Amino acid sequence: MRRERQIELLERLAGSGQHFEGMHAERSMVNPASAYTDPERYARELRVLFRDGPTLLGLSCEMPNPGDYLSTTLDGIPIFAIRQADGTIEAMVNACRHRAAPLVSARAGNVGRSLVCNYHGWTYDTDGTLRARPLSAGAFDDVTLPCNLHRIAVAERYGLIFVRAGSNEPIDVDQTLAGAEDDLGSFRLDTYTHIETRTNEWNMNWKLILDTFTESYHIRWLHKNTIAPAFNSDCVIYEGFGRNCVSIGLRANVRDEFTKPKEEWSLIPYGTIQYFLVPNALVVHQLDHIELWRLEPLGVGRVRTHTSIFAPEPPSEKALRYWTKNLDLLLQVTGTEDFPTMERIHSALASGAVPEVVYGRIEPPLIHFHSALNDALAEAEANA
Ligand code: FES
Ligand SMILES: [Fe+2]
Repeated sequence: MRRERQIELLERLAGSGQHFEGMHAERSMVNPASAYTDPERYARELRVLFRDGPTLLGLSCEMPNPGDYLSTTLDGIPIFAIRQADGTIEAMVNACRHRAAPLVSARAGNVGRSLVCNYHGWTYDTDGTLRARPLSAGAFDDVTLPCNLHRIAVAERYGLIFVRAGSNEPIDVDQTLAGAEDDLGSFRLDTYTHIETRTNEWNMNWKLILDTFTESYHIRWLHKNTIAPAFNSDCVIYEGFGRNCVSIGLRANVRDEFTKPKEEWSLIPYGTIQYFLVPNALVVHQLDHIELWRLEPLGVGRVRTHTSIFAPEPPSEKALRYWTKNLDLLLQVTGTEDFPTMERIHSALASGAVPEVVYGRIEPPLIHFHSALNDALAEAEANA
């Protein structure tokens, strides 16, 4: 993150009052429980945000070599993107043109020089062009349908890969990031090394996973026996970028920085810098590494999470143990303290006995995230 940007963000914090109350949002927000539990709303979210909109597939450094791929499912559409020999990426629906069997089965991997369907062996170039139907003895020669895999839109920039599952309509990454590209570009995400990704499933609406990370207000209470002493629970530094936003959690000792001359101020050692790339991803810059959360909604009350950790350079064996421990700790705190609470919240909201939730002025990214979602759904409806 550029030095001037770090100083600018810290200046806002320094001038925000004894309890950082100047960092609060202008007004609180009430959101109906149905935003989390209504199947009809959920279906609209999937269509508008996950099928029609661009979503983050992953980081460029997860698929650096020709044949490397990443796959996911978006509003039920199985898709994958694959690195080509010339370094570009193509993305396709993960379904064979014969009878729709998947071409790749893992979340990530390498296909070599061609894609071979596991069902009857149809073989495609890595860009999805049909190359052969082995041993079919001309049995498909009378079929006039196109036989190449269905292409979808993909775009790569700033070390980020976006796809649009529902169509080939081009993706403008700058427009998608809506201003966050300045910070995200400065992190040089393409230079990192992917260490590990772990997958879990949770009984909650997908938005509750993201809600978990929006505010630091809960740290003092929910994490009182683990991370609370090290972190500030009074505020986050927040900024909106279109539908996206950044929420920067702070170390408890952040005020120490204000004793230095301003031109030496640095936010990086004190900040957990979290970019919410709506709808499905959270990119987190920590002092010495990157974390990435990706979501796959599986139902109105069920979500799959992929949690990844990335190091600034290829790790030694010792470093690998360090990064693995880091990921262990992250998943231990979220998996035993945050997400079980969020699952209980989902159950309460789904019971029908709780009509709404309140996002206070101390939780500005939460207000931004849900307002942006509500606006996006209303806009899609108006344009329908
Ligand atoms: S479904 Fe792929 S070859 Fe038959
Ligand atoms: Fe938490």
